[in-house]
Amino acid sequence: MTTFDVEALRRRFPALAIEDGGRPVALFDGPGGTQVPESVIAAIGDYYRTSNANHDGPFLTSRRSDAAVEEAHQAMADMLGAASSDEIKFGANMTSLTFHVSRSIGATMAPGDEIVVTILDHEGNVGPWKAIAADRGLVVRTVDIRESDVTLDLASLDAVLGPRTKLVAVGWASNAVGTINPVAEIVRRAHAVGAWTYVDAVHAAPHLPIDVRAIGTDFLACSTYKFFGPHAGVLYGRAEILDTLPAYKLVPATDRFETGTGNFEGLAGVTAAVEYLAEVGDAFGGARKGATRRERVLAGMGAIRAYELDLYRRLADGLDTIPGMAIYGITDRARFDQRTPTAALRVEGVAPRDVAKALGAEGIAVWDGDFYATGLIERLGLADSGGVVRIGLTHYNTAAEVDRLIEALVRIATSTPAATAVAG
Ligand SMILES: Cc1ncc(COP(=O)(O)O)c(C=O)c1O
Repeated sequence: MTTFDVEALRRRFPALAIEDGGRPVALFDGPGGTQVPESVIAAIGDYYRTSNANHDGPFLTSRRSDAAVEEAHQAMADMLGAASSDEIKFGANMTSLTFHVSRSIGATMAPGDEIVVTILDHEGNVGPWKAIAADRGLVVRTVDIRESDVTLDLASLDAVLGPRTKLVAVGWASNAVGTINPVAEIVRRAHAVGAWTYVDAVHAAPHLPIDVRAIGTDFLACSTYKFFGPHAGVLYGRAEILDTLPAYKLVPATDRFETGTGNFEGLAGVTAAVEYLAEVGDAFGGARKGATRRERVLAGMGAIRAYELDLYRRLADGLDTIPGMAIYGITDRARFDQRTPTAALRVEGVAPRDVAKALGAEGIAVWDGDFYATGLIERLGLADSGGVVRIGLTHYNTAAEVDRLIEALVRIATSTPAATAVAG
């Protein structure tokens, strides 16, 4: 297998060359949205140059546009491991798609039926379920975490599952602290009580191979702007369920879940984003010649995962040297396979927003706050003090960038009034 050549990949992303104050920016904001390779930008431009039309018309540009849309469905089916491209639905983003399909799923439930959500999840997989529950008289039950390592408490899951549970909504990975949930096991437990599952894979998709059939989920949602594509949401629904759900659609529309006119140029970019991951598999994942696109994407994700975990270890080692540093989530190196390369931290004596501002002033991009993991940040008791600082590594980050970040964090941590008093 060829060594992961991060510099070669970085050259494919024009935005990584942006300079701030004479230095290239160091972007650790990936969990909020990633940069896109030139091939994605070109695909979107090419759609406009060659294929721009509404769908289902008996003329060239419409036929081309329809082909681009079909191709994007197939690309996402390949990436997620769906049995058919008919199981893929596009929408504006994960949140809008979830609100939309929650109406259909909720229509199958009776008052008193139960939906399970988790305290670890992004609001995108909580709010829509609370809203439909309020509309239809359903009960929402919430799975708790183990505070020590910010992982889901499966005993708490078992305690809320019961004969009236109709849906379990759970994240594949936490966008705030990076915990990877045992989704296959959670799906198994949900199915054992006859419930459907809705997996939020938004944070998992840029970091992990996804296989909807291996985990057996009924639904899964993700967002292509988190994995090197344009702003679009993707819903996978198992055909047996999707085809029988009531659909909120216009009478003449052919698709039952993709309402209105789609973001066709964006979908051309989605195909290019999936192809990019496949190309990473060709170059660095050891994908064999003639492999399917799915195999190539899996190879790419394998290479990305190995590189990111190495980089995360470097980040973790650096963070450990900083006085007054608190890290939330899994910190045991032997368990790093259960986390994404996303660190949530606080620097003693400095508000998260001030840490992010100080880093931003040095051209280093990080997010602070709760990132819509609102319940989690409240549960950790951090909501009233600015949440956490989130360092999100992506496969295009480098060891040099991590070192630059650590140096900046050391300066921030050692220039607090508390640190200065101790040193003085
Ligand atoms: C884990 C997770 N779920 C859901 C969302 C919402 O995604 P979207 O912006 O596509 O609605 C995000 C966005 O940050 C996220 O990180």
